Amino acid sequence: MPSKLQCMDCKTDYAIDEVRYVCDECGGLLDVIHDWTDITITRELFDKRLGSLQPPYNSGVWRYKELVYPDIDDSLIVSKPEGNTNLYPMPRLASWAGVDTLYLKHEGENPTGSFKDRGMTGGVTQARVLGMDRVACASTGNTSASLASYAALAGMEGIIFLQNKAIALGKLAQGLAYGATCLRIDADFDRNLELVREASEKLGIYVLNSVNPFRLEGQKSIMIEALQQLSWQAPDWIVCPGGNLGNSSAFGKGLKEMYDLGLIDKLPRVAIIQAEGASPLYESYLSDFQDYEAQKAHTIATAIKIGNPVNYQKAVRTVRWTNGVVESVTDQQIMDAKALIDRAGIGCEPASACSLAGTRKLVEKGIIEPGSTVVGILTGHVLKDPDATIGYHSNMLEDITGQYANRLLQVGDDIDAIVEILDKEKVPV
Ligand code: F0G
Repeated sequence: MPSKLQCMDCKTDYAIDEVRYVCDECGGLLDVIHDWTDITITRELFDKRLGSLQPPYNSGVWRYKELVYPDIDDSLIVSKPEGNTNLYPMPRLASWAGVDTLYLKHEGENPTGSFKDRGMTGGVTQARVLGMDRVACASTGNTSASLASYAALAGMEGIIFLQNKAIALGKLAQGLAYGATCLRIDADFDRNLELVREASEKLGIYVLNSVNPFRLEGQKSIMIEALQQLSWQAPDWIVCPGGNLGNSSAFGKGLKEMYDLGLIDKLPRVAIIQAEGASPLYESYLSDFQDYEAQKAHTIATAIKIGNPVNYQKAVRTVRWTNGVVESVTDQQIMDAKALIDRAGIGCEPASACSLAGTRKLVEKGIIEPGSTVVGILTGHVLKDPDATIGYHSNMLEDITGQYANRLLQVGDDIDAIVEILDKEKVPV
């Protein structure tokens, strides 16, 4: 049977080639469901494709084609190729966080500098299947950068709705550079998401926010690739930031599918970390998801400045499926954790640092045990938000102290002064 769309709540089925984001019957979010009865899926199948130079298997998404979109005609795939990101063992950060073993999987190493490329290859490929020539999204910046790039690659018009102030410089630059139609709108991300859905409905444009389930099929591959890099030995915990909750939703689906197919022997627990000022999932978690209230979001981590996440229901499902947890961290904790990740030579944008800050907090709370193996997901590249980085190191961020700041040393054109400084300044170890 070909893949289909299915409502996550009432299980109504829809054809895979319908332009649709929610269920007609109940308004529920949709999953892409594949039929694997006639396909043999093994670790070996994916292992023998490692290192392949052949499209589509040279992509860290399409290496797992059978899990992502088995029936897709290879000629329709729009790929840069993405994925193949590093999984770094981080012993020093592990001891800072209080766990035995910590890996950081750096999704900022994707072609446009964030994990969104894994979703975008899925979404833009589906846009091709559907014969769409215009694709759009609302974005805090990374989705728009990725959409702009993949739309250009596919010869489609990319249209991006950006909120007025809170977009990091690197991301704004990418949208403009890749030639998207860029609308800066005097509204926050949550309102822009409503606007893009309305405008797209009126104009027949394909929406590529993470409400689009083909995005999440691509993003599942973060988990598949991480598990393959660990020789299919599941860690105890996966820790990731949560904004619009697409990634955490994709992780739950991907992990459960891998477990059901026998690719992994146990399900890691997923911890979703939100910024304190943008934490509707965390607040809801405190009532065991009985209550939910949208928020007006505030955080320095502009990527996750989201008060009404579209994938809330799917993220709740991830927490339930994996015996997961939700936590929140302050902007100070985010920026300090980022400084440590940066200084380790790895680097990330502020939102990504939720993974490390959240791990430490969950260890302090006794939820993550010290003997655990943790995989933290770094979602975006250090160059995305230079203002936040430089602001931290020059102690210029409001309400944040640059306690791990690396001071910029100012010195005149004077060899004696330079020698004197370098004599005194200690190289950090
Ligand atoms: N980290 C980064 C760097 C992001 O850009 C985002 C989301 C997240 C984490 C949160 O992921 O939404 O799947 O929970 N950025 C979106 C955007 C919203 O428009 O670029 P999520």
